[in-house]
Amino acid sequence: MYRIKQVTKIAHLLAKPVICEGDFVVDATAGNGYDTLFLAESVGPRGHVYAFDIQEEALKATLDNLKRESLEKRVSLHLSGHENLLHYVKEEVSVVMYNLGYLPGGNRELTTHYHTTLESIKQGLSLLRPGGLISIVLYPGHCEGNFEKENLLPYFKGLPASHYTVAYYNLINQRHAPPELVIVQKYLFS
Ligand SMILES: C[S@@+](CC[C@H](N)C(=O)[O-])C[C@H]1O[C@@H](n2cnc3c(N)ncnc32)[C@H](O)[C@@H]1O
Repeated sequence: MYRIKQVTKIAHLLAKPVICEGDFVVDATAGNGYDTLFLAESVGPRGHVYAFDIQEEALKATLDNLKRESLEKRVSLHLSGHENLLHYVKEEVSVVMYNLGYLPGGNRELTTHYHTTLESIKQGLSLLRPGGLISIVLYPGHCEGNFEKENLLPYFKGLPASHYTVAYYNLINQRHAPPELVIVQKYLFS
């Protein structure tokens, strides 16, 4: 059972059918490791997850979560900004996940930023296999997150329809500014 309010779960729901056993995938913002765990389960024993975060604390939490499920062998953890994606990932990937913002319960100053996020997304698109997708959870409820959203949306809207489908999921009857989701899928034949 999931609730449509859980935007990160909606991202999993959409990504799941795109991932085949043995695939390479990326978690661009490992955080506490919930997305990494989902990806590690989805790629199976022959697949591989590249996970990035700029905080050791986040990678440690992610590793602890993976060890609990004996999935750590499927994942390489990189203490690096996701804007260095192409430095680490050489294979074609089926999914790249972003859950932007700061580590829940952590230092709010250590948040994602529009310029590095955009650079990373461009690199992610270059690695994406036909039919693959990138999911981006946006957090407009804090200042930097809103700036990031306002600047990323025009980029997504400008992606050529001949090569990509872009969908935008948001909750329209909630108070404050709940998380939003953008999904970019690369066409099978382009
Ligand atoms: C909302 S949390 C991610 C939550 C995570 N996906 C999960 O399932 O628990 C955002 C994370 O992005 C990380 N981050 C910030 N800037 C980054 C960058 N340039 N590259 C990679 N990670 C970054 C933060 O340290 C933080 O841990």
